[in-house]
Amino acid sequence: MSSSAQTILDVRDLHTHFFLRRGVVKAVDGVSFTLRKGEVLGLVGESGCGKSLTALSVMRLLPKGAARTVQGEIVLDGENILKRTPAQMREIRGRKISMVLQDPQTSLNPVFSIGDQLREALLRRGPAKLKEIMKQAVAALRRVDIAAPEQRIGQYPHQMSGGMKQRVVGAIAISGEPEVLIADEPTTALDVTIQLQYLKLLKRLQRENGMAILFITHDFGVVARMCDRVAVMYAGRIVECGPVKQIFEAPSHPYTRALIASVPKMSGARGRLTAIDGQPPSLMDLPVGCRFASRCAHVEQRCLEAYPGTTQIGADHTADCWKTGSI
Ligand SMILES: Nc1ncnc2c1ncn2[C@@H]1O[C@H](COP(=O)(O)OP(=O)(O)OP(=O)(O)O)[C@@H](O)[C@H]1O
Ligand SMILES: [Mg+2]
Repeated sequence: MSSSAQTILDVRDLHTHFFLRRGVVKAVDGVSFTLRKGEVLGLVGESGCGKSLTALSVMRLLPKGAARTVQGEIVLDGENILKRTPAQMREIRGRKISMVLQDPQTSLNPVFSIGDQLREALLRRGPAKLKEIMKQAVAALRRVDIAAPEQRIGQYPHQMSGGMKQRVVGAIAISGEPEVLIADEPTTALDVTIQLQYLKLLKRLQRENGMAILFITHDFGVVARMCDRVAVMYAGRIVECGPVKQIFEAPSHPYTRALIASVPKMSGARGRLTAIDGQPPSLMDLPVGCRFASRCAHVEQRCLEAYPGTTQIGADHTADCWKTGSI
């Protein structure tokens, strides 16, 4: 399963930092992962560990100002998009890779109708007659289960419910038929039944279009439902990655173990992460050794002295821990 022919997105040793007057915040500090064609890869980890910044780095949509990707490669379908110009990136976004932002409400423009916003996205596929585009826009809304799309198309975001807006954002994100979709906590703002509907919808679209999804979430229930593999992030790095079943049944990194142990009841399919004792290190002052060392029950001297590097545990399972296999 590790054949590079199947890889659609290969992120290698990515570093994105905030350069502030009081110091450098290493929000993404050596992130590597691959996303394969047609799979759903979960990205989990505590708040502030760098999940959204990783996604925004891949999209080349960093917050304006202090943030900069200073190292690494982002290879999308064989080309390093860090070398692309902003104009080339506008071509790539929407058509090859697309993202549903953590707060989708803010990605719709309140002064344009839903139809206008979809039309703009659809036009990125190439020039087309207005009538044809409107037909496609109606079809796009129908695909995300919006009832009476012919009427909805003329409405404005404030005339829609939260769940509907979310589906419109989803429709816009996939309208260019991208090969990769990044979904950053796409259901956090929704109530439970709507969440479930939306997840089913994403899964269906992923199957229909053979799209690969990088799915960012706090919710292990969602991971179990949606993902093929999962990458666990801690303090700016991915510390464990493997097939969902293996990560749930035999987590290797003590941080992953703590995360899974902190989920109230896995059998109940839902559960948000509760706190693990202690705090992650400051991203302005990262330790030289393992970043989890100060919270780890298995810590020993070498953990404090040097970063462990990545150990291959199984064919498709890796962890960054000195004690892999011995705890
Ligand atoms: N504008 C900013 N200036 C300085 N630091 C920032 C800024 N935005 C984010 N950060 C830092 O970058 C780190 C990573 O942020 P990011 O939004 O990627 O976290 P996250 O894992 O997505 O968290 P959450 O689960 O809460 O969404 C945070 O710890 C934060 O302190
Ligand atoms: Mg985030």
